[in-house]
Amino acid sequence: MANPVTSIIKRILHKLKRLVALGIQRSRQLVHTRRARYHGLNNDAGICYQTVKSPLTQINLHARPIVNSMDFLPDRHSLSGTDFVIGPHVEFAKAYIANGDDPTWDYAKTRYYQLAVAGRLPFPVMGECQARMRCQKFIWMIEQIRRHGYKPREFGAIAVAPTTDGKWMVINGKHRCAALLALGEKNVDVFVGLDNEVRVQFRHLAESVWPRSSYHLSFEAMESLGKPNKDKADEIQQLIEQIKKQKLETWANIYHPLPFYEFGNLTTQVAPDTSYQRLQMILDAADGNVEDKRVLDLGCNLGFYSFSLAHRGARVTSVEMRADYHDISKRIVELYDMNVRFRNESLTPQLIDEVGDVDVTLCFSMIQWVIDQHGMDYGKQILRKISERSKLLMFDVSVNMGAACLVCPHGQELVFVFDWLKEATTYTDIQLVGQVHPYGVDTRYVFACKHQ
Ligand SMILES: C[S@@+](CC[C@H](N)C(=O)[O-])C[C@H]1O[C@@H](n2cnc3c(N)ncnc32)[C@H](O)[C@@H]1O
Repeated sequence: MANPVTSIIKRILHKLKRLVALGIQRSRQLVHTRRARYHGLNNDAGICYQTVKSPLTQINLHARPIVNSMDFLPDRHSLSGTDFVIGPHVEFAKAYIANGDDPTWDYAKTRYYQLAVAGRLPFPVMGECQARMRCQKFIWMIEQIRRHGYKPREFGAIAVAPTTDGKWMVINGKHRCAALLALGEKNVDVFVGLDNEVRVQFRHLAESVWPRSSYHLSFEAMESLGKPNKDKADEIQQLIEQIKKQKLETWANIYHPLPFYEFGNLTTQVAPDTSYQRLQMILDAADGNVEDKRVLDLGCNLGFYSFSLAHRGARVTSVEMRADYHDISKRIVELYDMNVRFRNESLTPQLIDEVGDVDVTLCFSMIQWVIDQHGMDYGKQILRKISERSKLLMFDVSVNMGAACLVCPHGQELVFVFDWLKEATTYTDIQLVGQVHPYGVDTRYVFACKHQ
């Protein structure tokens, strides 16, 4: 038996170690806060708006106020939520257009350059060399747009998101937006992002800053994102209350997120990043464009992927066996007027035939349940049918972990899923495109399957 004194000492030492580690981490963060330098977004965490090309919506740059997005610089240096039109980007672009040919004009005197030198632009640059390069590239971009026009479908669109008080927040493409404003453009094609996706993109950055009280402006800007559905506010609230009472899941309100402003506070059974990481994998596999594509979402649950893709112009059919999930999704379709057809059925090969040829099929964490219900051959039959009907299959399955799962020798999980897909489907191009950890301790390997 362990000596009780030794074990108490061990516990105290362990606690002390953790306290010291936290102390070091906090001190580093304090230094960072004092220096007030921009961290940079980590685009691997989930959804990424860096090179979005569709769907595009035309907005009038002068019809609503445009504000800067979160920069997570301390409040004394932050531009978060402030008027974009009088900010350093537009100021620089206007100054260049007015004076760029004048040899006495010195871009190093601009506020934009000075912020860049100090590392305080919401862009990872710092020091004179990088600041000069940044300015030169900005001027290059202004000239490209002046000479050839803004080409969102080729080079990526400006991404904006609505705020609850009716403004546009520029999430990506500040330089393009500034150039267009300075060039006097009015109507511009942009990608209109969803508040839940933007929050996810900024979540890790938000979590990394400390103390929070020094970053009030950025948190306030993040809070302000969203497009409330004011017309249906009461009915939506009733639905949220109903969901909470229904106790659909074991430790959370819902299984995966519902991508609408009002549902943002519901807790999810799967780790928050999982759904967004998969969504980004779908978009990447579909070359970033699902506009007008036919999508079939199998075991769609409440429809996170269905709604997120429908928002991007996809025509979605979704299949879910459980009536309680299905009824909620149907109600959301009515409340938000979404273009998704939810079917409350158990998945069969006939159903896949009935839906017909599609561009994308999603089969995430569901085939193990079908196999559990109807056996392995049936599962493979479904997979084969999908491969006959769908140009692209996005797939993952639980292996060796969970209530229903496929089993294989330990360590061979990834090889097993690949071989299994190869055997069960007619796809000739099966690529591992990433992995997710829905419950933190498990790994699902995500495959994109196509015909070559
Ligand atoms: C683990 S959840 C995955 C949900 C969603 N695909 C995702 O990854 O976020 C599995 C879903 O498949 C549904 N499901 C299970 N068996 C099914 C079947 N035979 N036909 C249709 N849906 C089924 C479940 O009700 C559940 O909503």
